[in-house]
Amino acid sequence: MSIAQITETTAKLRCIACGATPNSAAQDFRCTACGDLLEFFFPGWASDLLDGALRLRSGQAQPRHRTSPDPAALKALWLSRGTSRDALDQSGVWRFRELLPHIPAEDAITLREGNTPLYHLPRCARATGVENLHAKHQGMNPTASFKDTGMTFAASSAHQGKFRWVACASTGNTSASMAAYAARGNMHSLVLIPDGKISWGKLSQSLDYGALTCQLRTDFDGCVRILNELVRQKPVYLLNSVNPYRIEGQKTAAIELMEQLAWEPPDHIIVPGGNLGNSSAIGKALLEMRELRLISRLPKLSIIQAQGANPFYRCVREFGGKKLEPMTADTLATAIRIGNPASWKKALRVLQATGGEVEQVTEVEIATAKAEIGADGIGCEPASAVTLAGLKKLRRSGFVKPGEAVVLILTGHLLKDPDFTIQFHRGDLFSGTTGETAAAEAKSLQRAPIVLDANLGAVIAALDAAERNSK
Ligand code: F0G
Repeated sequence: MSIAQITETTAKLRCIACGATPNSAAQDFRCTACGDLLEFFFPGWASDLLDGALRLRSGQAQPRHRTSPDPAALKALWLSRGTSRDALDQSGVWRFRELLPHIPAEDAITLREGNTPLYHLPRCARATGVENLHAKHQGMNPTASFKDTGMTFAASSAHQGKFRWVACASTGNTSASMAAYAARGNMHSLVLIPDGKISWGKLSQSLDYGALTCQLRTDFDGCVRILNELVRQKPVYLLNSVNPYRIEGQKTAAIELMEQLAWEPPDHIIVPGGNLGNSSAIGKALLEMRELRLISRLPKLSIIQAQGANPFYRCVREFGGKKLEPMTADTLATAIRIGNPASWKKALRVLQATGGEVEQVTEVEIATAKAEIGADGIGCEPASAVTLAGLKKLRRSGFVKPGEAVVLILTGHLLKDPDFTIQFHRGDLFSGTTGETAAAEAKSLQRAPIVLDANLGAVIAALDAAERNSK
């Protein structure tokens, strides 16, 4: 199979539970036989690899014309697109289209997403004792969160399906991203968000991008319930991460990361867990890359949740992965304030396949970690900072060793939630809460703004005081 033929990848849908392989998905993207989630798989790759493995076992020579993509040719092709002027080649998602289901170029809606930086975190490295510590900053996407990588792909599939309306339930980032891509693709978008429980930064994005934005008097899980009913009644295209196109687009963060690491996988990748689409996508990409021999070993993929929104942590630690008990979630990291994550079975599968770990972290641990990442000159939103807080715990438990290479996935930009940051630095984020005493330990990280009279002497005095304190 040539690369051109591979581009026409024959992806098929499959139910993750009963294995049914429908030709198309229902409006709610649930299996019509058993109600579980669907995923894409690529029969061409699997049969070829199986064929290769069987030949090896039976002592036969490898076939001369392999039908699965040639790893070296793919790597060279993706690299060569770096100099292309074509919009799809410039996108950090569409650049890797050989590993995605086929969507015609004329339907592609792109904001040149992906291509996000990988940063070394020197201070955090010292604080955790993990020298080889990097962050892949998905907050550097066009709408400032990782959602854009999945949204470009899924919004394009809506365009291909000639939908007039797209919709999502969201804690704020999915809605911002969806509204932007819908606007670019000339589609209308409907946003369902929990009233009062998302950051202003995110809400303002969906308003500017022209979405019909409904703040429902419920939480994220309540918004999801209503949206699922809605899509069964109205011709509205569902853009939550139960949509398998979202997962496919989000896979590219892991592919791009491996390319940035010269295809030498780190020992650990650490992601925040909310609705669990992102961990599922990154894990799927890792497994597929190994299957296609793009990488030779798997990093361990670990998932971190906020203690107040920890249904997946409890699923693994308390119920041995047998069931997920929905809960009423509560955390200041509003992006991951989710009590009934849709993709928990997919996430569990990749957690187990990669040998990763789950952890939970407190509100104060999240706020402290966020300021520590900020002090490295990077900055992220609270939900992203669970990764560093989780790493500290995984170091203490011995799961992550000092000499190992670790990559944190930072999912959203610092400016998504400035209220959280300002309250933390002013010292009132935890006032009157149970975290107040623990938060006192984070004092050295706090940099509250100082209001001064407009004279030079006052500024010099402040500078001198800061210099004395920094010694
Ligand atoms: N980090 C950020 C910044 C997020 O916005 C989200 C999810 C997550 C982490 C968790 O990712 O759900 O794939 O496990 N935000 C969704 C939203 C739910 O509506 O914006 P996940």
